[in-house]
Amino acid sequence: MDFELKTLTPHQTASTVADALLVLWPDAADQAAPALDDPLTLWARGAVADEDLPAGAGQCLAAHRLPGVKPRRVVLARCGDGSPSQVRKAVQAAWALLKAGQPKTLLVLASAASGAAVAAAVQALADASYVYTATKSQAKPRSLHKATLAVADATAVRSAFARAVAVTRGVELAKEWANRPGNHATPSLLAEAARQLAKQPRVSVDVLGPKDVAKLGMGAFLAVAQGSEEPLRFIVLKYQGAAKSSAPVVLVGKGITFDTGGISIKPAAEMDEMKFDMGGAASVLGTFAALAELQPALNVVGLIPSCENMPDGRAVKPGDVVTSMSGQTIEVLNTDAEGRLILCDALTYAERFKPRALIDIATLTGACVIALGGVRCGLFANHDDLAAALADAGQAALDPAWRMPLDDDYAEGLKSHFADMGNVAGRQAGAVTAAKFLQKFVGQQRWAHLDIAGVAWKSGAAKGATGRPVPLLVQYLLDEVDRQALQPAAGLGAQPIKSAKAAKPPKSDKAAVAAKPTKAGKAAGAGSR
Ligand code: BES
Ligand code: MN
Ligand code: ZN
Repeated sequence: MDFELKTLTPHQTASTVADALLVLWPDAADQAAPALDDPLTLWARGAVADEDLPAGAGQCLAAHRLPGVKPRRVVLARCGDGSPSQVRKAVQAAWALLKAGQPKTLLVLASAASGAAVAAAVQALADASYVYTATKSQAKPRSLHKATLAVADATAVRSAFARAVAVTRGVELAKEWANRPGNHATPSLLAEAARQLAKQPRVSVDVLGPKDVAKLGMGAFLAVAQGSEEPLRFIVLKYQGAAKSSAPVVLVGKGITFDTGGISIKPAAEMDEMKFDMGGAASVLGTFAALAELQPALNVVGLIPSCENMPDGRAVKPGDVVTSMSGQTIEVLNTDAEGRLILCDALTYAERFKPRALIDIATLTGACVIALGGVRCGLFANHDDLAAALADAGQAALDPAWRMPLDDDYAEGLKSHFADMGNVAGRQAGAVTAAKFLQKFVGQQRWAHLDIAGVAWKSGAAKGATGRPVPLLVQYLLDEVDRQALQPAAGLGAQPIKSAKAAKPPKSDKAAVAAKPTKAGKAAGAGSR
């Protein structure tokens, strides 16, 4: 789906051809002086005066063939104070009315919108109009091909718009892979998706298999994978946007392509949802898709340990003791606590990159779903500034996180009689004890853990992946570029490099705002199998 940003007055918008038109109406417009006499403003003012547009963000009024307005279907939607969250609400409500007409082209009039509000509109629209088709034989693909955002001054919001479009590409790639069932999203297929991403400038990938992982001594990761017929993959993605000497941010995404629980098998109800247990991995792929499009001056490494968690004659058993890459031994008391076992070895591997920050993203615990539900993901960090940066990024990106504690007392339950630690503690504070387990593998590095078990997908009627926390991660990384620019040139300062791949010079800012997917970008999206 393409997005376009244009400077258009309401008059010009009314006379622009499109299948449908969405007018975002902030409360402040109710009272504004009646200087505008275009057909859209007159119609909206009349509706407000007649009380046909009730108060409240998300309230809508639909019209058909308005005189003087080219698009046949028009929806007027209140966006409250014009804040990003209220704009998102308005777009979601409006799309519920617009989608029946299956518009191919949509105009969105957002005259007074701030950059953040334009970004929210773009993301909400992409999100609402997304359709999963990969494993349906008869599915109609997404109808919406192009959305044009009409604003009073495109220049003022251009960079926010370009970022938002890149985030939607990342979110859609993440949704696409997370939604695919386990047999269509194996570790090898995830590795293939990563290879597609690596066709883009400044992105490269290495894929390790079982032998390489054994050589590295990743005994915990191997133990989880040993009960499956599908070979494990350890995916190492790199985005190089800054000098080689600039320390990277390392992202580690849990890539369990299906979690049966293993020998500690899960109950049958809703077990299908454990295909989403690679949501962390999907968010790393999605973040790389956004990086490839935005080309920021920063180095990022993405690590994805990926395998299935299956019960089998060869599967790891409760009580088995395994040796992690760090040398620490682990008593596998519950084979369903497998995420931490694959992550701990990836965290140890990450050390070699001397990261400026190490962030793992994982659908790690049911306990986190109980604690925070589907609104905020759990955020754990051993440095306050890193926690604050991630929390702020989540807030700004409408992809919020909530900081959780890491007191050492929470690690008491991980003690084991037969190994350096057990892989589970008691029932209490399960999200925290899982984080304490991971912390044993990061030493003093600046580390954060995002438990996305509650936010990576929705259950029930709207079952499907959300693409979270791609918006948070991209926001954090772009903020990190700004933070790094503020630092004195020594050490961490990143100088833009000349060109990462000789044949493909990095895109200029201008190219980025055109916001069309590159060929490689398209290849990395749907239908790349
Ligand atoms: N993938 C699950 C976590 C999960 C469960 C996410 C339900 C979303 C919904 C993870 O591998 C797991 O099974 N965790 C166990 C840990 C327990 C055995 C300590 C859990 O949360 O029950
Ligand atoms: Mn599990
Ligand atoms: Zn799991």
